Amino acid sequence: MAERLPNLRRDWRLDFVVVNGENATGGRGLSPEHAKGILEAGADVITLGDHAFDQKEMMRFCETEPRIIRPLNYSKSAPGTGARVFEATRGRKVLVAQVLGQVFMSRPYDDPFSALDPVLRAHPPGGAVAASLIDIHCEATSEKMGVGHYCDGRASVVVGTHTHVPTADVQILPRGTAFQSDAGMCGDYDSVIGMQKDEPLRRFVTGMPGGRFTPAMQEVTLAGLYVETDDRTGLATRVEMVRQGGRLSQCGPAAATAGQ
Ligand SMILES: [Fe+2]
Repeated sequence: MAERLPNLRRDWRLDFVVVNGENATGGRGLSPEHAKGILEAGADVITLGDHAFDQKEMMRFCETEPRIIRPLNYSKSAPGTGARVFEATRGRKVLVAQVLGQVFMSRPYDDPFSALDPVLRAHPPGGAVAASLIDIHCEATSEKMGVGHYCDGRASVVVGTHTHVPTADVQILPRGTAFQSDAGMCGDYDSVIGMQKDEPLRRFVTGMPGGRFTPAMQEVTLAGLYVETDDRTGLATRVEMVRQGGRLSQCGPAAATAGQ
């Protein structure tokens, strides 16, 4: 991220960058130090996830750093906020919100749809916010697609996170919302979702742990989603998958038109 994002911001003339950072600290949560590194690399906002507070210092840090967004439906007593309007280039307002799904998740989180509804109602496309991004953080692609269609025409972008593997369903939904079931991880894809493959393989094959999970730290691919939106309608006009560096086949907006 630190190596590539500054150049991508310049070359693709990015107005606003959202990074899911929930496991940037050795695969377990996000420390304030690493959050600061991601922000310094050029992220405007960092979203978290089910591992939001695996690094305990994040509980305090997310109260003091407004550019951190935790899931709206994490718990009623969670510190921080799940949705906020930010300012992008040329004074344009951008809403960012995150929700957790319920299917196959480790805890029974509240319904993401009813958590999102008041936020979407408060910030309709074509109103005060020029664009809006909803991060649906969950396991099941079905639930992610459900959230995408629920938000279709009500948000500029719905993008999934959590599963670490980019999905090939990048599209603009019928009512104008850019969508991808999962943005994928920024990490080493010669791994089992970012961890060195030996220990996960041992557990799969034998059913028994033999050691700790250790992050894989070789060739890194930056994976994500590039979206262009219309400031007047708040809807997407172009969407492209992004895979830069590392082992995955490369893609991105070859001729970006953002900022024109
Ligand atoms: Fe997660």
